[in-house]
Amino acid sequence: MSNLKDHLSKDQTLLAPKLENPKFKALLDNALSSYVVSEKYENLPKILWGEKRFQLERSSSFRKLRQVSKDNIYTHLTRLNLALSWYIERSGHNYGAKMILLSDTQEEKSLYALFVAEEAIHQREFEHFIDFIPDPNVYWHPLLDPLAQAIKEAERETCLYVIQVLLEGFGIGLYTSLKESCDLPELKKVYSRIINDEAKHHGSGVILTHSLSPNDLVKDQVFEYTRQFIIALQSADMLGSSFEREQKLSQKERSRFYEEVEYEKFMNLRLVKLKSMLQKVDNWDLIDRLEKEKVFKFSI
Ligand SMILES: [Fe+2]
Ligand SMILES: [Fe+2]
Repeated sequence: MSNLKDHLSKDQTLLAPKLENPKFKALLDNALSSYVVSEKYENLPKILWGEKRFQLERSSSFRKLRQVSKDNIYTHLTRLNLALSWYIERSGHNYGAKMILLSDTQEEKSLYALFVAEEAIHQREFEHFIDFIPDPNVYWHPLLDPLAQAIKEAERETCLYVIQVLLEGFGIGLYTSLKESCDLPELKKVYSRIINDEAKHHGSGVILTHSLSPNDLVKDQVFEYTRQFIIALQSADMLGSSFEREQKLSQKERSRFYEEVEYEKFMNLRLVKLKSMLQKVDNWDLIDRLEKEKVFKFSI
């Protein structure tokens, strides 16, 4: 398999948020009206995740900033969280479409059709809390690249492992922590409802992979996409890049920033969780191979 990194680029189907076609917008609004529970949130606060989630006051560089800069950083981080949630749901549409087309049985098609309907509801729920255009040049997350690539190119069985088990599982962990650290009760409720659906998606992936005996191509793809996914996660650097939109850091200040916010500890905890999720489905040497690549150990 060629190196994925060489040809990863932003997926065109995710990039064009053409929500403005009035005819489709009206039809979609009507179709969603009986499913979507939340209302479009008016007068949305700019910061929905702040000190409670990121604890940037631990950083001496952050403490020295003026309040307006601190607020700008938390506003940007809030938008990154919302945009990532929104792009994950958009990707879910593409994943479900692929699985519907590749299903062997009608039951499988119907199951994925229901899952995609839930992704459409989730996307709309998030839109009720988004008052900015999630421009991919500003609010992109690197893990969306291997996700899009897998949806486009990977075998059906590979998708079951990488997307339905690993990524949906990661999504549950991410959404749970976003729910817990969110400052807006209405959005917390939305995350709670969505987490219940994602647990079904992830859980059925785990059940379905148990009966598989993947061939060498699938094993190689699962390894490579998982590796790319973990590399992407490690390269995301939301905190540092958000900080530097306000104030550049020298090499030394940057290291101190990461040290003070305990970034290494946070990332390694995340990797431990991912590894334990993979253990649920690894009945070959997937984790051993990944261990040899040292992907589960993060250091700055
Ligand atoms: Fe979803
Ligand atoms: Fe999902």
